[in-house]
Amino acid sequence: EMQEREIIKKANKYAANFFRYVLMNTETGKSGRKYLADRKIDKQTMADFFIGYAPDNWTGLSDFLKKKGFTEELLVKAGLSNRRKYREGVYDRFRGRVIFPIYNQRGEVIGFGGRLLEESEKQPKYLNSPETPVFNKRLSLYGLNLAFKTIRKENHALVMEGYTDVITAHQFGVNTAVASLGTSLTEEQAKLIRNNASKAYIAFDADAAGETATLRGLEILQSKGLDVLICQLPESYDPDEYLKNYGLENFQKKILDTALPLTEYQIRQAAKNKNLSTIEGKKQYVTEIIPIISKIDNAVEREEYLNQVSEQLGISQEALNSELMKYFRKNY
Ligand code: GTP
Ligand code: MN
Ligand code: MN
Ligand code: MN
Ligand code: MN
Repeated sequence: EMQEREIIKKANKYAANFFRYVLMNTETGKSGRKYLADRKIDKQTMADFFIGYAPDNWTGLSDFLKKKGFTEELLVKAGLSNRRKYREGVYDRFRGRVIFPIYNQRGEVIGFGGRLLEESEKQPKYLNSPETPVFNKRLSLYGLNLAFKTIRKENHALVMEGYTDVITAHQFGVNTAVASLGTSLTEEQAKLIRNNASKAYIAFDADAAGETATLRGLEILQSKGLDVLICQLPESYDPDEYLKNYGLENFQKKILDTALPLTEYQIRQAAKNKNLSTIEGKKQYVTEIIPIISKIDNAVEREEYLNQVSEQLGISQEALNSELMKYFRKNY
């Protein structure tokens, strides 16, 4: 007897083929094709990511999969169908959305993300598969199936927020891109990256949400032993928009090559919105950066940061060192 997990993966594979077929070969798929063309996602990229379209129809996929022999119970467990509230039967979870299948590293379809063609107040822009026996969001990195070989070869991963960021990156030949899919990075995702490389570039959206996600995700990556480098995009851009507006060469030179090591990024963040010419501002700044500096293992590197801050604030290194020692005594 086939394991339930295997059956779910099989249903997912049929679903991905269904969505793909609808996108590429039907009149219904036309709006999806137009959407992707407007976003300048080319045919080859669409094929690489196996992008599809879920018709705006209540039972298209559910009926198709039932005909293939899957039970309603299984379809609900797979997160492909929802149970009806007031009568028997199930209906499709994904309707009227461009579909991005989510693969594990082995290339099996474990879930889906679906994007509305037009933003709406009534529905979320993206709808993902729920947690299922085969889909654990904490363990997944979108694009890893396509990226992991290059990640190994180049010894770094480039972590982004969104589906379209990764898709566009690959289209431009940036083949180390993967996405955490909106949430801040988890320990499991960090391990997954660490298994393949020793460095992680982070290129999250340059907006408030991205910045929060960046700060939280960073520590997790570092704690798993990765060298973390933070890319800084111009205000309000994400990697997809940046690449499409400025191209690969700028992305390489202005974004990747200028990425800041974690500690430096954190220290700069701490300086933001503070008046470092006042005593109060200096105190707040030092209070925020001491814990950051305390995490640096290497004494030379630690000393170098203290040096820089000492010059920046016009405060002696002894004073900073004594704050650092105080912090060590309290916390270690
Ligand atoms: P586009 O608007 O298609 O370019 O997507 P984006 O990736 O730029 O979207 P955004 O920066 O708003 O969000 C980043 C990622 O967070 C998305 O790719 C999704 O994985 C996730 N996300 C965004 N909006 C939603 C939502 O409404 N619901 C859920 N579950 N996830 C979302
Ligand atoms: Mn985003
Ligand atoms: Mn965003
Ligand atoms: Mn975007
Ligand atoms: Mn974005």
